Amino acid sequence: MFVDMQPADYLPALPSDLGYGIGIVGCGIVVGDSHIPAYKKAGYRVAACCDTIEEKAHSVAAIYGSPLVTTDVGELLSHPEVDIVDLAVHAHQRLPLVEQIAAAGKHIFSQKPLAPSLGEAERIVGICRDAGVTLMVNHQARWAPPHRALRLLVERGVLGHVFAVTHIHRAYQDFGWYAEREDFNIVDHGIHYIDLSRYFTGYTPVRVKATTAMAPGQNAVSPMIYTILFEYEPSSQVMTTLHFNNIISAPTLHDQMWFVDGTRGSALLIDPPGKAKLSLSFKDSPEKVQTFDIAGTWECEGFAGSMGEMMLALEGGREPESSGRDHLVSLRMAFAAVESAKTGESVELRR
Ligand SMILES: NC(=O)c1ccc[n+]([C@@H]2O[C@H](COP(=O)([O-])OP(=O)(O)OC[C@H]3O[C@@H](n4cnc5c(N)ncnc54)[C@H](O)[C@@H]3O)[C@@H](O)[C@H]2O)c1
Repeated sequence: MFVDMQPADYLPALPSDLGYGIGIVGCGIVVGDSHIPAYKKAGYRVAACCDTIEEKAHSVAAIYGSPLVTTDVGELLSHPEVDIVDLAVHAHQRLPLVEQIAAAGKHIFSQKPLAPSLGEAERIVGICRDAGVTLMVNHQARWAPPHRALRLLVERGVLGHVFAVTHIHRAYQDFGWYAEREDFNIVDHGIHYIDLSRYFTGYTPVRVKATTAMAPGQNAVSPMIYTILFEYEPSSQVMTTLHFNNIISAPTLHDQMWFVDGTRGSALLIDPPGKAKLSLSFKDSPEKVQTFDIAGTWECEGFAGSMGEMMLALEGGREPESSGRDHLVSLRMAFAAVESAKTGESVELRR
């Protein structure tokens, strides 16, 4: 079987022509390294940059050439060209800012995870709903071209019925604020892959079992190694396994991969940044492998595509794909995985 898939089939829409103005609140690492370069390349308009540390706001504004630089969120909110607030502070800093932004009637594009607890995340979703503003959470991994290409093949039914999704991830983040944040590995970073497990299968699990381990001499306050198993309704006939080792010290052996097995064939996505390869093999010709070199990157099209979805949702008057409400499902799965690892028991997600 030969599969025809072109970059235009999976690259996300980057609707710079819609002209929405972005105001950034929190000009830290993720904004400087990813949001701003991606928005600049996509041609989005960043109208204002705000950080309580003035130099950070200035250095991010300088990369973009953004006109308004401020340490005062109120000043950013009163700028008429700010339509969307790109909220890139930490989870525990979000709630008071959401209250202020929603009261000003501005739409919110928030970094993940939305809050440090499910209750607080639900409160944030309620505040935005009551204020009538759109809330989207930046699950940019869904707009990263390698993941969109894999999902497209699943949607087209190329693999048949998908019954096993397996993720293996090796990285190193035993430093900085990552190491200080409780349950960072599952709730803050792992949420990308937990969310992708929903994106690929199209199902929400009913039960989770997780196990974790601390590594010798690690700095992080919480385990940096986990395995999570998601179980679904029996009628779904699918299982997801996520294994993440975030304390591999030899960088050349870092990698991330997804195996997706279906009744007609299997897919393997190997995803080193900018060099992702997606391979397919089918039951009716198992000796053959078809490989796609995936165009685009998580850092550029992923971040720009995610913001693009926010703009398209505003334009169409619809809920964004990874709205605050939708994010609650992935966040619930992440907190349930933490609970399972701590208690040693399976945790029900149907409650
Ligand atoms: N989507 C991704 O792939 C990804 C990657 C990295 C980080 N993140 C998320 O992005 C968020 C920020 O991470 P980071 O690494 O950039 O952190 P960071 O500490 O580098 O940046 C946060 C910034 O927010 C500023 N800030 C805090 N309170 C503020 C306020 N009231 N008003 C204005 N500015 C304020 C801080 O001064 C700081 O510059 C976290 O939630 C993290 O989980 C997401």
